Amino acid sequence: MCGIVGYIGSEQAAPILLEGLEKLEYRGYDSAGIAVINNGEINARKAKGRLSVLKEKTNSGKDVPGVTGIGHTRWATHGEPSDVNSHPHLSNSGRFAVVHNGIIENYMALKNRLISKGFEFTSETDTEVIAHLFEYYYKGDIMDAMIKVIDRVEGSYALGVLCSDYPDSFIAVRKASPLIVGLGSGENFIASDVTAILKHTRDIYYIEDNEIVVLTKDDVKVYNIDKEEVEKEVSTVDWDVSAAEKGGYEHFMIKEIEEQPKAIRATISPRLKDGRIVLDDVSLTKDDIKGLRKIFIVACGSAYHVGVVGKYIIEKMCRIPVETVIASEFRYCDPIVTKDDLVIVISQSGETADSLEALKVAKDHGARVLSIVNVVGSAIANASDDVIYTWAGPEIAVATTKAYSTQLTVMYMLSIYMADKLSTITSGQYKQYIDDLEKLPELVAETLKNKDQIAYLASKFYNCHSIFFIGRNLDYAVSLEGSLKLKEISYIHSEAYAAGELKHGTISLIEDGTLVIALATGKELFDKTVSNIKEVTTRGAVVLGLTTEEHSMTGIADYTITIPAANPMFLPSLSVIPLQLFGYYVAAQKGCDIDKPRNLAKSVTVE
Ligand code: AGP
Repeated sequence: MCGIVGYIGSEQAAPILLEGLEKLEYRGYDSAGIAVINNGEINARKAKGRLSVLKEKTNSGKDVPGVTGIGHTRWATHGEPSDVNSHPHLSNSGRFAVVHNGIIENYMALKNRLISKGFEFTSETDTEVIAHLFEYYYKGDIMDAMIKVIDRVEGSYALGVLCSDYPDSFIAVRKASPLIVGLGSGENFIASDVTAILKHTRDIYYIEDNEIVVLTKDDVKVYNIDKEEVEKEVSTVDWDVSAAEKGGYEHFMIKEIEEQPKAIRATISPRLKDGRIVLDDVSLTKDDIKGLRKIFIVACGSAYHVGVVGKYIIEKMCRIPVETVIASEFRYCDPIVTKDDLVIVISQSGETADSLEALKVAKDHGARVLSIVNVVGSAIANASDDVIYTWAGPEIAVATTKAYSTQLTVMYMLSIYMADKLSTITSGQYKQYIDDLEKLPELVAETLKNKDQIAYLASKFYNCHSIFFIGRNLDYAVSLEGSLKLKEISYIHSEAYAAGELKHGTISLIEDGTLVIALATGKELFDKTVSNIKEVTTRGAVVLGLTTEEHSMTGIADYTITIPAANPMFLPSLSVIPLQLFGYYVAAQKGCDIDKPRNLAKSVTVE
């Protein structure tokens, strides 16, 4: 995904645009650019590399005069990271400049048609066609041109558009990619998310699909594609600026790991009233739940790993069949989904293209869609029948931690809620779950105290070339997440395996010194997992065991991480913490760019 910003007011736009892009760099960081109108001309400055390169090129924006401008930070999809492929893209006459987050799916056909009409392209990007389409359709009215352009392009977009004929305003539109408007005093903004403008205003509009925004310094108007004005409600952002700052931590990732108790509490508290789970966000009735044939959980990456936990828990509590599917697979496997099914889509960003498209497949089959999302007003949230928001606050590090943990929490609450409606748990069990849920933030805080031991273990193993994570049942589900955390920020190869499955082939990879991180937190399967540990130690593996204070792995594992005892259903919230920290400290030992790992972006808005 990419980040876009826009500013119009009385201040010099360029420094404000660059400041906003700094807050959006987590969305994509292989190149950046700004464009500002000055003396009736658009001045664009672009640079490959991190935003710091652009800042240096423009003297932090001071060298770029003008009060109306747009900016962009890129995660390359079409065309390698380069100056010429960076946004903003200009039309041949220089009259239009465009920044874009999303994908224009029919860009090749449009590009070929425009070339045949004499338009000259300089970049390999899909976005550049938009700049030339404005040139092609513009007959003096920017709104008319906008409507023609969005009628022709297919795909997803949040667009900011400058036209040198309109020095005192600029225009924006969204479809599937998020866009917010910041409402200032004598100045107004657009951005991909609120972190970019929070320093200037808390009052925002969440823009919906096919809404066109016209901004001047004193006014913001929103129109539909019939050019009818749309009344928008002002939303006020309640989290503070520091939520999107590092706040003295070395990396956003460690800050967000530490924020997990608070994020879990913020997600649980509004939904616990007088000892009952209250899911106001969900219109699922008792009859709806009783009528469910099957539940699908569809997501990507870490959100998918939450779904693997969710399968075990919902099936255990509710006795409803659950199928957890990777979103990009769900889309193309011709899934057997009916109107009697519930499809749960999990997504931190609410923008992941694979998950959004899988959601549409589910709806095409008539299923009810409930999403678990961290970003209010995001595409997945807007497209769902029900949304349960995780109140994790902005998550900046590319490697998710607090969003993953709050998604787990929502999964627990939803499962208990449904089991209660289905009477598949007793009132006593219900009360116990609620009591144990309320203790969870403190138990996570307790688990976080183990940082020194994890940092020590990371210092011993950061040179490993391959690390295995194994576990059974919920421990297997958490192994998946531990392995991904390690891979994506330390670049060490890793694999998570169901402990009982290792002996069916992959154990051939175990040799002297291979590190195996073995999760054995569940009581019922502890002995079984110990047997699997012995299978690898006899073949030379070094075993780092992870268990609760109710078990001992002395004589079983070479090293042991111990987490507090907790309700078995909620143990994933504790066992994941040491694995997040292990990945973090290993990456730190290796000097990796922890918050912005290579090749990645915070959310992947391409298929
Ligand atoms: C997790 O650390 C990764 N950044 C990635 O796997 C992520 O979970 C995945 O891309 C899904 O993103 P989403 O939750 O925003 O949909």
